[in-house]
Amino acid sequence: MEKYGLNELRERFLSFFESKGHLRLSSFSLVPQGDKSLLLINSGMAPMKPWFTGEAEPPRRRVCTCQKCIRTGDIENVGKTARHGTYFEMLGNFSFGDYFKEDAIAWCWEFLTDNLGMDPQLLYPSVYIDDDEAFAIWRDKVGIAPERITRLGKADNFWEHGAGPCGPCSEVYYDRGPGSGCGKPDCAPGCDCDRYIEIWNNVFTQFNNDGNNNYTELTNKNIDTGMGLERLAVVCQGVGSLFETDTIRETVDKASELAGTVYGSDEKADASLRIITDHMRSAVMMACDGVLPSNEGRGYVLRRLIRRAARHGRLLGVEGLFLGEIAQTVIKANEGAYPETRERERHIKTVVAAEEESFAKTIGAGMGMLAELAARARADGAGVFSGADAFKLYDTYGFPLDLTAEIVGEQGMAVDTGEYEKLMDVQRARARSARASKGDLAWADADLPADVAPTLFTGYGKHSDDARVLAIVSQGEACSYINVGGEGVVVLDRTPFYAEMGGQTFDTGELRSGGGAFEVRDVQKDKGGRYLHHGVVVSGELRAGLAVTASIDTQRRRAVMRAHSATHLLQKALRVVLGEHVNQAGSLVEPDRLRFDFSHFSAMTPEELSRVEAMVNDAILDGLDIGTEEMTPAEAREKGATALFGEKYGDTVRVVSMGDFSVELCGGTHLDNTAKAGQFHITGEFSVASGVRRIEAVTGKAALSAAAGEREVLAGVASALKLGGADEAERRAAQIAAELRELRREVESYAAREAGGEGARILAGARDVRGI
Ligand code: SER
Repeated sequence: MEKYGLNELRERFLSFFESKGHLRLSSFSLVPQGDKSLLLINSGMAPMKPWFTGEAEPPRRRVCTCQKCIRTGDIENVGKTARHGTYFEMLGNFSFGDYFKEDAIAWCWEFLTDNLGMDPQLLYPSVYIDDDEAFAIWRDKVGIAPERITRLGKADNFWEHGAGPCGPCSEVYYDRGPGSGCGKPDCAPGCDCDRYIEIWNNVFTQFNNDGNNNYTELTNKNIDTGMGLERLAVVCQGVGSLFETDTIRETVDKASELAGTVYGSDEKADASLRIITDHMRSAVMMACDGVLPSNEGRGYVLRRLIRRAARHGRLLGVEGLFLGEIAQTVIKANEGAYPETRERERHIKTVVAAEEESFAKTIGAGMGMLAELAARARADGAGVFSGADAFKLYDTYGFPLDLTAEIVGEQGMAVDTGEYEKLMDVQRARARSARASKGDLAWADADLPADVAPTLFTGYGKHSDDARVLAIVSQGEACSYINVGGEGVVVLDRTPFYAEMGGQTFDTGELRSGGGAFEVRDVQKDKGGRYLHHGVVVSGELRAGLAVTASIDTQRRRAVMRAHSATHLLQKALRVVLGEHVNQAGSLVEPDRLRFDFSHFSAMTPEELSRVEAMVNDAILDGLDIGTEEMTPAEAREKGATALFGEKYGDTVRVVSMGDFSVELCGGTHLDNTAKAGQFHITGEFSVASGVRRIEAVTGKAALSAAAGEREVLAGVASALKLGGADEAERRAAQIAAELRELRREVESYAAREAGGEGARILAGARDVRGI
């Protein structure tokens, strides 16, 4: 068998399946799109679930990919053993209701034996315990002796991962020889030791698991195969572990070089080198796919990986920041298959370095505290490191739990994770309630009778609508009316009022019924979908059950729409000028005023700012039509909509497009043409957190009055300088500044001369007093 490299193996696999009629697709992002059951993509089939279930149409019935995957379930074993890793690439060929077991098995065999030239005598298939059909295909079509085919149960040969398509599978094991095994007499494929390693998994996807282990038959019988590229390379290259395969070894060697050691010379150092290598492979790919370190979800996974790698660098004695250099080596090994790693190199290295640096700032003090706490825990003798202490280390010094666990584990102790989790829950709840809108707090829905129906929002098209009062809450209690001067919360059956949501502020306006008028000052939506109009009765009274005309303040709403549509143009312009890594990290849209937070690591230069501003103003001047459509998340993706898919959207999403310039998922209210935004002017750009920048800007009337204000200032300057017009101000100001400089110089030299003259006079009048 030839010793193919990782890059060659990937290419051989994909072109082999192209020759069998498969469409080759690029790896999907590591960030799941529209799948809440996963934090990170963990297998080749995960991004294709809608094609398996029939929810969406695949681009072809046969597809092949090499998919970036991350599995962190075994993270604490990475390093300790040579075979664990968090990052891997999975080769896969897929059939959506096209070919089934017979072709899948035959091609699997053909690729391994004919194409790669593996010795058939070293390959052992396995099938699901009662899958006689697969057994017969291996025996009769491929010609494997029956005693070489193993039947295995659900634990080994039934593939499922959370909710989604699943089914029985047939694996292929490679025999690495008795030298690699446990030597037990019953050692055979399926044994836990390292002799027979599973290289290929053919899943016959027949069922859908709803997430609660309720299985339904899929309409189509599908094929989902998965072969770990690194594992295949280990076999083909005849090396001991993935860390010794060709391109991965380059990263191990780079880390060894920076640490002044050689891989294979010391078991403890080797473990650290493996951790750095594996974690940085994951970190580079995650950063490339737009994940930023944070304290939650995917961001926390990235933070843990970078911090653990950083600590192991220190254990190896590396001084200063070094992960940027490791990232560079990982990028070099991957740029052929993943050119985006090179394109986003600057961003990736900044993400890694910023996280490493922020950890470096606290690790010294944190390690000191940890040593103290650990000494105390050791003295206790119970072998337990308290959850409260682990939490303190996390909260004060950013030590992820598994890092603390690893460090105290090295001293023979375990962290009380139950206590730690409890404290984390308390902190999360506190953060949630701090974030919660007024709708959840001051106007708790408990005040509202439970049977009040959700409100229908009609404000995309209408600024005024006829509605009925469903409920009134005043002074914390449901009531049937409010008199003039009384404050309260009113729920209608339908409303044109936008409730504060997705960064866009609420509408204000009026509810009128006969002589009664209620001034709406704030609107929030509660968890039950009821719109809570908060305000005060300004004339007459307001009664439950009455028909009212609900009218929003149209001028204010128009100004909000100007700012909101301009925010979309701004996001697009930022992605064009700064790069695709720009992701929305928060926004606030108010009348003609907006604030937009986004991921980016350095301050924007004045040139970048003026390019962005000009691009937004050009899109306004182009008068692009703005359209909104409801569609499925898959359709929205197809359209190229910008959004954090899978984060917060349901079965249908609302897509807002502005000509060909911008397509975004958004529930907000927008202009019908970009020209109506009038003008866009950036008033500030600054940092709000590590890796997050903020732009503040104005539109429409606020932009006009900002410009008018500037003109007024200029006119004031002109008049103070007694100039004929403002256009002379710049020239005159430069002249005055030059004159001032000249005068200052003259004053200084005069003063110096004066000081010299004075000194000379004093000296001239000096007398000799006893020789001094
Ligand atoms: N889904 C299966 C696996 O991950 C085959 O691709 O092993």
